Amino acid sequence: MSFEPKILSFLCNWCAYAGADLAGISRFQYPPNTRVIRVMCSGRVDPAFIPRAFLAGYDGVMVLGCHPGDCHYLTGNYQAERKINLTRKLLEMAGVGSERLLLDWVSAGEGERFSQVVRQFVEKIRGLGPFSLDEEMRGKLKAVRASLEGEKIRWMIGKGPELMEKENVYHERLPKERLNEAIESTIRDEFLKNRILTLIESNSMAAKEISQKLNLKLNETLNYLVSLVNEGKIGFDPSEEGRIPKYTRNV
Ligand code: FES
Repeated sequence: MSFEPKILSFLCNWCAYAGADLAGISRFQYPPNTRVIRVMCSGRVDPAFIPRAFLAGYDGVMVLGCHPGDCHYLTGNYQAERKINLTRKLLEMAGVGSERLLLDWVSAGEGERFSQVVRQFVEKIRGLGPFSLDEEMRGKLKAVRASLEGEKIRWMIGKGPELMEKENVYHERLPKERLNEAIESTIRDEFLKNRILTLIESNSMAAKEISQKLNLKLNETLNYLVSLVNEGKIGFDPSEEGRIPKYTRNV
């Protein structure tokens, strides 16, 4: 049986949704594989919606907004771009692959372009095959979702451009490379900490076991564990009586 990809599409009301409407009126053909959610602006798409879509069984996610410079809320599509770029990095870390997530621009007058974008994305996902959602992948996606819902990453998305534009008290501006480095390391830290939380959600585990599961050096794993203990998110499992302490999630 041939595989029919399930795609979730977020369409901005003012451009992409109107473009989809025009495609329908003009009878431009496109595959019926997408479920559409209309949003007022592509910037309204919370990045945490994306791992949620994969957890709900979708094979791909599309976010279509107005062309750069045409957003009805001025900078919504630039915000969308920052959110999606960051989400892509997290999806790569989780092993989902960023190619299952598309951000593109379609204007209200581009009915034909809309049908083309949908056709190409559906074909791409068909080529990649069904998204396999086993227990391990579920845990990874939950870690992606928790990272995107966390304060640190949200702050970076919101404040990133401001940090580059504004001078600090020493009249210095943060160079783009430094900001990117800070973003990369925050994303990695947040993902790994949330991954630890999902790993010990139902079973307590020893540090060595966690480091093997994460394919991470024991030293680095211990640093994350200490940080999570200090944040009050995890503790030691009192029911484990062995010599090796096991970590459990605090409720
Ligand atoms: S209104 Fe369309 S992307 Fe903002």
